[in-house]
Amino acid sequence: MGGSGNGGGGRAARALRFLLLFVLALAAVEYLSGSILDASPLRTYLYTPLYNATQPTIRCSDKTSVQRPKNSTYAKNVTVSPNTVKYNATNITATNMTRQDSTEDTSTSVLISKLMDNIKNLVTTEEVDVKKTEPALPLCDKLPPDLGPIPVNKTEVELEWVEKKYPEVHWGGRYSPPNCTARYKVAIIVPFRDRQQHLAIFLNHMHPFLMKQQIEYGIFIVEQEGNSEFNRAKLMNVGFMESQKQKAGGWECFIFHDIDLLPLDLRNMYSCPRQPRHMSASIDKLNFKLPYEDIFGGVSAMTLEQFVKVNGFSNKYWGWGGEDDDMFYRLKKMNYHIARYKMSIARYAMLDHKKSAPNPKRYQLLSQTSKIFQNDGLSTLEYELVEIVQNHLYTHILANIDERS
Ligand code: BGC
Repeated sequence: MGGSGNGGGGRAARALRFLLLFVLALAAVEYLSGSILDASPLRTYLYTPLYNATQPTIRCSDKTSVQRPKNSTYAKNVTVSPNTVKYNATNITATNMTRQDSTEDTSTSVLISKLMDNIKNLVTTEEVDVKKTEPALPLCDKLPPDLGPIPVNKTEVELEWVEKKYPEVHWGGRYSPPNCTARYKVAIIVPFRDRQQHLAIFLNHMHPFLMKQQIEYGIFIVEQEGNSEFNRAKLMNVGFMESQKQKAGGWECFIFHDIDLLPLDLRNMYSCPRQPRHMSASIDKLNFKLPYEDIFGGVSAMTLEQFVKVNGFSNKYWGWGGEDDDMFYRLKKMNYHIARYKMSIARYAMLDHKKSAPNPKRYQLLSQTSKIFQNDGLSTLEYELVEIVQNHLYTHILANIDERS
């Protein structure tokens, strides 16, 4: 009896050891095969989303046009008709977004559902690609070949010269790998004003970078019209909405990208993992050090679902600073955590630029974020789309985002 009891104990110990080894092996596999080296792959793995989006309603009004550039040699790649194309949506306003009598969870899930539905119903201007009717190409490798550190060229270049270098980029700054089906469909959203000198340098760096990563992508430069203070966050909301209309089936992943930041390592995959990812953790001008743990500015990646669940960015940050911290609070409130690559991978070079005056109201705004974010963001976004021009290397979105009186 005593012997068989010991044997049972031994078997139980062996089973426990085996189980432990099995769990460790699983963790190792997840770690290696997941998002190369996200800061917290296991936490990411264990995360379960809080809300389900099921219901609809967002009202869109106003009309505007999509224009094509006049003197371009890339007219063959255009997917919109030669004449002005009308959208049925530009001024985005949500109706009945919150219910006075509902709990926070309910009103949040209603909001999310409405936004999701609105986004699904956006009218796309893209014709279905002929390629899509052909047999599907095999999936691209999870980690494309030859990824590693790359040099950067910060010297000014002519846009026309860059255009000639990348004939494989399609109209509107769009690309998909020719020999495999991309794993990620990514919109690169770049808020813009008065940075003409950076545009060609940025495109010259980003197109080869993204092509080597075998991503399907589009680059959207979102310019603020007028002289009001720059509102980076609101421009990114506009870029999100407008880029989504430009793609049949929509984008799955959004990378919000300052124009003066250039990635220095191809292992920094421009994709969206299970958690929002802060990409530009390690910047040359900041001595490759993270300024503070919660920083989410510069370059950041969010899935469609993540972005909608936090109601996009705030529309209220005019002038420099705070809007990225506001997004961090939104994400935190919705139980997301920030993923990051290792500092040796998340490296960026920053182009020279004049520092803008910080917005003195940003701390006051930040103190409100977790209380009001459902009523400030995509659900309350209003703008006038002045024009969209599909250039060879980027789609140019010009918007008037001034507040209406
Ligand atoms: C600002 C952020 C900015 C960061 C840069 C913070 O004080 O609020 O918007 O990204 O500084 O270091």
